[in-house]
Amino acid sequence: MSALEIALVVLHTGVLLAQACVFGTLAVQIVASRKVGNHLLAWLFPTLLVLMLAWLTLQTLVLTGDVTDIWLVLTSSVVGNMTALRWLVWLLAWALWRWTDPRLSILPAITALVFYANVTHAAVSGDAWLRAAGLAHIFGAVAWVGSLPALWLALDGPGAARIAKRYTWFGLSCVAVIVVTAFVQAQTLAGGVVGLLGTDYGHAILVKIALLLVLLALALRHRFTLAPRLPESLGSLRRSVLTEAVIGLVVLSLASLLSSLPPGEHVQPNWPFSWRVSFDLMDDDELRREVTNAARALGGAGLILLLAILARRIRWIAVATASVIAWLAIPHFDLLFLPAEPTYFWQSTSGNTPGSIAAGKTAYAQNCASCHGVGGAGDGPQAKGMRIPPADLTAAHLWDHPDGELYWWISHGMNGPDNRLVMPGFGEKLDDDTIWSIIDFLHDNNPNKPEGGAAATGHMMMHH
Ligand code: HEC
Repeated sequence: MSALEIALVVLHTGVLLAQACVFGTLAVQIVASRKVGNHLLAWLFPTLLVLMLAWLTLQTLVLTGDVTDIWLVLTSSVVGNMTALRWLVWLLAWALWRWTDPRLSILPAITALVFYANVTHAAVSGDAWLRAAGLAHIFGAVAWVGSLPALWLALDGPGAARIAKRYTWFGLSCVAVIVVTAFVQAQTLAGGVVGLLGTDYGHAILVKIALLLVLLALALRHRFTLAPRLPESLGSLRRSVLTEAVIGLVVLSLASLLSSLPPGEHVQPNWPFSWRVSFDLMDDDELRREVTNAARALGGAGLILLLAILARRIRWIAVATASVIAWLAIPHFDLLFLPAEPTYFWQSTSGNTPGSIAAGKTAYAQNCASCHGVGGAGDGPQAKGMRIPPADLTAAHLWDHPDGELYWWISHGMNGPDNRLVMPGFGEKLDDDTIWSIIDFLHDNNPNKPEGGAAATGHMMMHH
């Protein structure tokens, strides 16, 4: 990221936070039916408008390299049009708040936020559910986090206990919306479990979810522990609201950062573990029996532990028995874990076209045929006298490996059973496109294609 791009992200975050605080303060004024945080709003409105202009100026610089093009960007680009529109709508909200009522002012504020939510990732993808979830998510987050500073101020003034009581239902419903929509979005935008664990975007989402759970715990504490003990608990409530406000603003900043990263489904996820869970082996009767028996034994151990809690006198014997059973049973679950390389879940970017197959054929002849043979049967001139014979690439077995695993072997090489390199890696010599095209050629050249296409276990996990 260049300095300019970083500045752009920082300003974008500033705009988001200012919007949130304006909207949230208006919401608190309505919920409390009192003009709390008026002096806050008096400088928040102009700050927001200035930040938006600064953002657009920088955006112009990034787009055209010339600040004086700002009018051009404003009038003739979608970003410019949307920003101009939002700017005018916020100006209207300010005027209405100034001269009339927060209840009127919140209407243009909602409109401006809908425009804002429209430019995020969720809105870009076509799925109607995802769009709705994205919009609800932004609304919930902005309304709630943005209202906390004003709430904190309100809890210092007259009628604090009454305001706190009226506010809690509002806070809790916002949090519920945020959490539910977060899961909907994480599911689809991050590319499932693999995307969550394997991409920067997924990691940022995981941090966000963890912080959200902390916020949820705080909100529940306010509602069920502190609110019923008002007004005595007012001091603790205020401190807790302040904590919540700080964490909430951090989460919003993270969210703003997220919207400037590419979502997980578009980048190749790096699998962080050297194993993966696979239920393929469950097709084999004997192995399935082994795993289910181990699961039964573990269940039994759980029951014995329960007994240990209920019956004091046999406690230590029961705990010891359960531990021994668990110790014997757990290793059998190894069967469900298979090795996985970091690129295991990568997907080919070649498109598997006649062109890529032809390119792969040429690259194969130049780099691989000496060992694997021109036809791929493992009978190249160099094969003779090798410690471990080159694999037969025409065998049905090739289809057991997803593209990402083949990619790893071709780019990083393969070890024999003795852990010494038997096949060199070609990652330095061949670029990604060439490696994917070689994989296309290997599949095209293989006469044992299974019914229903490639085994591609990796693909199945990516799509769920
Ligand atoms: C120096 C000889 C050599 C060269 C060159 C070579 N390989 Fe190999 N390859 C091997 C050997 C040996 C194995 C078997 C490794 C093992 O079983 O542990 C192997 C295994 C493989 C496998 C694993 C097949 C399976 O089903 O387990 C693939 C795929 C493969 N090679 C592809 C290629 C491609 C593609 C190239 C060219 C870019 C290439 N190899 C170049 C020696 C070579």
